Amino acid sequence: MPASLRKAHCHTEDILTMGDRIPHEKVCLLDPSSPYPLAPEDADTYDFFLFGGILGDDPPRDRTGELRKLGFATRHLGPVQMTTDTAVNVSRRVVEGKIPLDKIQFVDHPEIKLRKKETVTMPFRYIALPPKESTEVAVEGEESTKKSKKAKKPEPLLPPGMLELLKKDNDTALDLF
Ligand SMILES: C[S@@+](CC[C@H](N)C(=O)[O-])C[C@H]1O[C@@H](n2cnc3c(N)ncnc32)[C@H](O)[C@@H]1O
Repeated sequence: MPASLRKAHCHTEDILTMGDRIPHEKVCLLDPSSPYPLAPEDADTYDFFLFGGILGDDPPRDRTGELRKLGFATRHLGPVQMTTDTAVNVSRRVVEGKIPLDKIQFVDHPEIKLRKKETVTMPFRYIALPPKESTEVAVEGEESTKKSKKAKKPEPLLPPGMLELLKKDNDTALDLF
């Protein structure tokens, strides 16, 4: 376990056998097919947030459906598939940070630069990092001498080590040719 997660409890038991510790009505399944968006008030009703299908097939194969069958309450996080870590992070911002879903900035299908001439497009939605301070922003009332550059797509928030993993994967794929 990484040090930052030392307080986490890991279980391998089936969630359905944990009814004494995890009451069914306190569980909310994060399900892209839910008719209801996750909202800050959901923190008052639910104590456990359940995420499914850790593999990120694109297009999605509705692996969350396996958990949907169990009859938990459901909430969605918007129409685009997120990576699981993004879905967890967004849920935390909504229920603990009390930030409404529509106030979180996202970036869809970002093109991630691996090396000078190598990029990979990830078919998921990510939390957008705040834009870097830029001199390209025109100051009101000031005549700009520079031509305004095209607005850049925001960078995605990736988990620690993910960029290195993508680079390594890409190198392995290139080795095969
Ligand atoms: C990365 S998704 C993988 C799903 C998989 N590709 C499939 O075929 O179903 C993993 C989990 O993140 C959560 N998730 C991802 N995007 C979501 C969204 N837009 N709304 C709600 N939950 C989402 C769901 O709990 C989902 O089971």
